Parts: sequence; structure tokens; C-alpha cells
Amino acid sequence: MTPEPADNPPSTAGLPDFRTSGPGASRATAGLPDFRTSGPAAGSGRYIHPLRIGTLQLANNLCLAPMAGFTNVAFRLIAKEVGGCGLVASEMVAAIGPQGRGGEERFRVLTRNVPAEKPLAMQVYGREPELCAMTAAALDQAGADLIDLNCGCPVKKAKQSGCGVALMKEPALVGQIIRAMCQATTKPVTVKMRLGFDAENRTMIEVATAAVENGAQAVFVHARTGESKHGTAVDLTGLAEVKAAMTRLRGADFPVIANGSMDTAEAIRRAKDEGGADGYQIGRAACGDPWLFRNLLAELTGGAPYTPTLDERRALLERHFQLISELFGEDRGTRIMRKYTFFYCNGLPGVRKFRDRFCRIGSRAEFIGVIDDFFADLRQRRGLADEPAEHLTLFDRGGDADEAGADH
Ligand SMILES: Cc1cc2nc3c(=O)[nH]c(=O)nc-3n(C[C@H](O)[C@H](O)[C@H](O)COP(=O)(O)O)c2cc1C
Repeated sequence: MTPEPADNPPSTAGLPDFRTSGPGASRATAGLPDFRTSGPAAGSGRYIHPLRIGTLQLANNLCLAPMAGFTNVAFRLIAKEVGGCGLVASEMVAAIGPQGRGGEERFRVLTRNVPAEKPLAMQVYGREPELCAMTAAALDQAGADLIDLNCGCPVKKAKQSGCGVALMKEPALVGQIIRAMCQATTKPVTVKMRLGFDAENRTMIEVATAAVENGAQAVFVHARTGESKHGTAVDLTGLAEVKAAMTRLRGADFPVIANGSMDTAEAIRRAKDEGGADGYQIGRAACGDPWLFRNLLAELTGGAPYTPTLDERRALLERHFQLISELFGEDRGTRIMRKYTFFYCNGLPGVRKFRDRFCRIGSRAEFIGVIDDFFADLRQRRGLADEPAEHLTLFDRGGDADEAGADH
């Protein structure tokens, strides 16, 4: 819900007009509303507020982004329990029919969910309207509260098969897929898109319009084009253009949710003030730092941020291991847990020394051994058992993110 304009809009004196400077400057911005002077003032629900997507009411507008290989039920449950985000998202599910790769068992693992994590978005990855509709119906049956279409995945395989970000070149097809999905489910259907296939093909308005005219109830915008690396700055002018177009089409309450490095309070304020975002979807930064949601909620509503103690961080790692093992069995769970162990510890002193050991964890006993040693080493470095941990930075910019994302 985008609130009505405030009686006392925030002062914009002294603020540079980002919409008319920087990389997007050459693009026409005429006709864009000034988001800095719309909505309530800071501190009164300007940035954090409940959000309605179709029939689905979210308690707040911070969302966990879908991440293949990461956002399984264990990770989502932790993000919800610890962070309190308003919406979590599953890994994408390929629309390849019941006989497809991995079959029913893969579908079961990808869609497994628990009541405590709700509301839950699940995502369809595909390009055949009929198969996408069948998949949407299956996700609905499996417990999705919202069903999203992937129009953003930039990996080679997606581009070659016309899926993911390749759909940004086919707005009409996006409309057909969304229409078919809407016919197959009563749950809200949304689209997660980029600004375009590449910088020369910025089709975000066409794609968002086709999706919404065919029934999409919200648009998630990763404010980069398909060839941009994760480390490059997001383009808030592009986001603002989508918000302005959706406002013209469906009114100011229509939810446009910003994605792409929405990992600090400052990034969120800018996405609202310059891009008109109604919500914020966070991916990589939440890996290993589920407290991030809670801290952003606090910081953006004038509350005190929370710093987990080393004991809490360690306890959460153990809980994560237990949940992952329940989901995948201990052998596979242990292998999957290597990357999370690294993410939980990344940014803390001494992590480099342990990196190789994290990558070789082969059993629960080894997991306990290596985190015992890591936290003992950390305490020795710091001298205090409950000294607050540093904030983590996850995925090196443009490096690990792209490697890790290579399978989505
Ligand atoms: C490992 C990995 C897997 C991803 N998998 C998906 C996916 O399944 N579906 C999707 O729409 N986006 C996927 N993404 C993209 C994220 O949802 C998000 O758009 C991107 O990481 C930018 O947001 P961030 O800066 O908060 O991470 C993935 C990203 C990463 C790093």
C-alpha cells in the first residue's frame, strides 16, 4: 500500500537530483513524479509499512529474494524467525512438467515448506505458458501464498533457452505466461524482472505493463539489466520509470518492489525516495546474516539495531545444520552446509584461515570441530567471549555472487 501524500513532505533542500545525474541522465525522466515529496515523512512509516499484494497482506515490506541453491525451507525459516521479514521466497522451480529433470523428488524438496515461514512466495522458471500454468497450479497445491515468474535469471543456459532474463525481450509472451498462470491459481501472481535484457534493450516498461495487464499483482524489479554484474550500482531511474508507469496503469497503491543491493538503510531510503519503491527484496546480504532484516526494520523505524553475540551466531549455525540435515539427509546436508558455514563466519577475523576447513567439512562431527576451533580462535583474538561480531559482507562483489549464482 502506498500511503497518501504527507501533509509535511520531507525537505529535499540540498539533495542532489539523482534522477537527472549519473548513468541514467541521458534518459528522459520528464513525467516522473518526485518520489521524495510523496508518501509520509521519514519516521512515520515512510520506508517500512505493511504491504498488500493482491489478496495477500504482508506484515512488512522487507522480502527475502529467491536464490537457487540457498532459499530452501531451512534458510527461509531462519530468515523469518530471526529477521522477521514480511515475505520469504523459494528457489525457482523449472516449468518442465512432472517427468522433468529430477522429477517428483526434486519438486518435493524445492517446494517443502512449513507454516512458521509463511507467507511464502514460490517461483516459476520457464517460457511455455501451458507448462508455466501447470507449474503454478502445482506450486499453489504445494503451499505457495504467491506465485512469481522469473524474468531475471541471466545465466547462459537461461539466455539460450529463452527463459529468465531472455523473457525481457518478449513482453507479449510474458503477458501470455502471466495470464495462463493467473488462470491456473487463485493466489496472487507476480513477476520478477530486470530493467532489460541488456543496456540496449531496456524493456522494463513493456514487460511490467504486459504482466500487469494480464493479471500480475506486483512487480519485483532487480534494477539492473541482464549483463550487469551484481557489484554495479542499481539504476534507480529505471525503477522510478517502472513505478511511474505502474502508477499510471493501476494507481499509486500498486506495489513495485525494489531488488538489487537493498542491504543498507541508506539503499532502501534511496530506493523509496528516488525510485518510488513500495517494498524491498534482499538476497545475498541475508546469507549468513538473517539479523539483517531485523536491523533494517529497526533502523528504518527509529529502533535500536541488534548485534548477535558470538554464542548466538554459533547457536544459529548449529540450528541451520540441523534443519538442513532434516531436509536433505546428513550427507548431502553436510555438503550444503559448507557454504552457509562460510557465509555465517565471513567478515569475522580469522575467516580466511578457516576457509579451506569450511570447504572440507564431511560430517556433523567435523562441522562441530571446525566451528569450535573458529569461535575459540575468534575469542582469543578479541579477548571477550560476548564481544559483538562484526557485520558480515557476503559474496565478494561481482565474484562469488556470479559463481554462486551460476546454477540458478
Ligand atoms: C546464488 C543466487 C541464486 C539466485 N537464484 C535466483 C532465483 O532462483 N530466482 C530469481 O529470481 N533470482 C535469483 N537470484 C537473484 C536474486 O534474487 C537477486 O535478484 C540478486 O541477487 C540481487 O539482489 P541482492 O543484491 O539483494 O543479492 C539469485 C542470486 C544468487 C546470488
